[in-house]
Amino acid sequence: MTFPTERPATWFVTGTSRGLGLELVKQLLDRGDDVAATTRSTERLLAALAGADTTRLLPLTVDLRDEAAVAQAVERTTERFGHLDVVVNNAGYGFLAAVEETTARDVRDMLDVQVVGVWNVLRATLPVLRSQRGGHVVNVSSVLGLTSVPGWGLYCAGKFALEGLTEALAGEVAEFGVEVTIVEPGYFRTDFLTTDSLALPDSTTAAYPAIREMTENHLELQGSQLGDPVRGARLMIERVVNGQGPLRQLLGSDAHAYATAKVQALQANLDAAAPTASASDFPA
Ligand SMILES: NC(=O)c1ccc[n+]([C@@H]2O[C@H](COP(=O)([O-])OP(=O)(O)OC[C@H]3O[C@@H](n4cnc5c(N)ncnc54)[C@H](OP(=O)(O)O)[C@@H]3O)[C@@H](O)[C@H]2O)c1
Repeated sequence: MTFPTERPATWFVTGTSRGLGLELVKQLLDRGDDVAATTRSTERLLAALAGADTTRLLPLTVDLRDEAAVAQAVERTTERFGHLDVVVNNAGYGFLAAVEETTARDVRDMLDVQVVGVWNVLRATLPVLRSQRGGHVVNVSSVLGLTSVPGWGLYCAGKFALEGLTEALAGEVAEFGVEVTIVEPGYFRTDFLTTDSLALPDSTTAAYPAIREMTENHLELQGSQLGDPVRGARLMIERVVNGQGPLRQLLGSDAHAYATAKVQALQANLDAAAPTASASDFPA
């Protein structure tokens, strides 16, 4: 896709009243772009944007799990701005518990936001991007979409799913001139690790003291994370404006180190499996 330079670009961003989403909206409005910003609370979004020029903002209260509501939000975006250039699936939240402490409700809630919600946005926006033969989809995953650690099973299940669908999507829409980026942040100094954002299980067992300790440590990490959301949002915007980058955008030296360790472990696993992998083949 060629990013529009002769007119303001139109962005559709989810999860915008806090954190990276809010910072994206601020910087996009500063650039003079048009922004459709979805949130569960336009009141909170507008309060967070107090003092900013919101002439080019379309704040939208949307439950991302509601397919019809998402479709209507996309329709309002194209009606208002006449274009749709970039879709950023940013909304998401963390959940810290052992796998066996995670209820079916917890699983559905997470996947509803991180997978079903994203899919609702894609189903509503891809026909527009495809028919205009250009656009950019940015799916905000995590380095935990590449690697998983104890206590983060449900969050990783959502982000791994997001990565899988996004890799397929990139291959499907390239021929229509639609570019796709997976953003993989490390720890960022947003609201992500506050109890306003982070979800915890209703009940726990005494069997996992290390996960309780990890949870406490993460809550205490708030305010000292390595990643700067202002710099992160700027890099995300630059990636889209410049175009033609790699599928994955790692944000943070911590993310890069965790991802590198995963690739090395995976390579060692592949090497160890190589001698026996062919043993299940039908003989030629
Ligand atoms: N911060 C990190 O360390 C980190 C690391 C890796 C990846 N990420 C990812 O980056 C993205 C942005 O997170 P952030 O760091 O900016 O966290 P944040 O400050 O907590 O903001 C999260 C945003 O996601 C939306 N959201 C949260 N729970 C939601 C739910 N149940 N339904 C719908 N929307 C929901 C919120 O939107 P509204 O309240 O406006 O509806 C909020 O604006 C997420 O996808 C997150 O997984 C963050």
